[in-house]
Amino acid sequence: KMLKEGTEEEYAKAVVSYLALGVDRLADFGSVLCVLNVTGGRGVVHTFGRQALPMAWDYIESNPFNPVAAGWPTACEKNEKWIQHASQTAYTPAIVTQSSATSLPYGDNYFDAVITDPPYYINVPYADLSDFFYVWLKRTIGDLYPELFATPLTPKSEEIVQMQHWDPIRYKEKDKLWFEAMITKAFKECYRVLKPESIACIVFAHKSTEAWETIINALLNSGLYLTASWPVHTEMKARLRASESAA
Ligand SMILES: C[S@@+](CC[C@H](N)C(=O)[O-])C[C@H]1O[C@@H](n2cnc3c(N)ncnc32)[C@H](O)[C@@H]1O
Repeated sequence: KMLKEGTEEEYAKAVVSYLALGVDRLADFGSVLCVLNVTGGRGVVHTFGRQALPMAWDYIESNPFNPVAAGWPTACEKNEKWIQHASQTAYTPAIVTQSSATSLPYGDNYFDAVITDPPYYINVPYADLSDFFYVWLKRTIGDLYPELFATPLTPKSEEIVQMQHWDPIRYKEKDKLWFEAMITKAFKECYRVLKPESIACIVFAHKSTEAWETIINALLNSGLYLTASWPVHTEMKARLRASESAA
């Protein structure tokens, strides 16, 4: 309809993409894994209160037309807020590309800085969890981004997570050694694309020494060297999974 009315194609694509994110938000607040928020507040805990899809005994059904909290109007308002925020942080449009961190589509000595938040070792099965949203996005905007939605579910084989213990059948090769080898490969790519004497900033959250050992080994074997480290509090205290958690 927008195109018929003469809207520029890229603009229409952006609008539809943001609306699709709104549909994702509704799905997040509208699944059978949404439980009552026992602390009060906004009533319903969204599906991803934890970075997991846990069993739930019962669920709370929220009204998608509710003008506050979990409804469509809020989804649209949030979108508007994010767009306004993002448009204030940079005057140069960002170029977003999708590739594995182990083979970046850039030449040597290309970037002044690399800032990365690599996967947290064993903690989060990102790709499996992303399928929850992927199946909706594939239906709503899959035709606009055919290259990003070519597969029925998210691609999993190159995802760098120590997944063997989650599912030893599907992920039998993804053990500690595999994780370390792949993270090393990714850090080597950071080193390759960085200009000499420039900086890589790596965020990592984990409570186990084993995970830190893996990351530091990968760093030391990548060509990068450590100049400083900072403990940073990055997460909201009130999160459902904040208790005794590092990430
Ligand atoms: C700690 S999370 C980053 C979260 C992000 N900073 C945010 O706030 O949403 C690590 C991310 O690395 C991604 N990842 C895993 N393997 C990857 C690979 N081979 N190439 C690129 N990204 C990968 C995971 O899918 C996950 O989204």
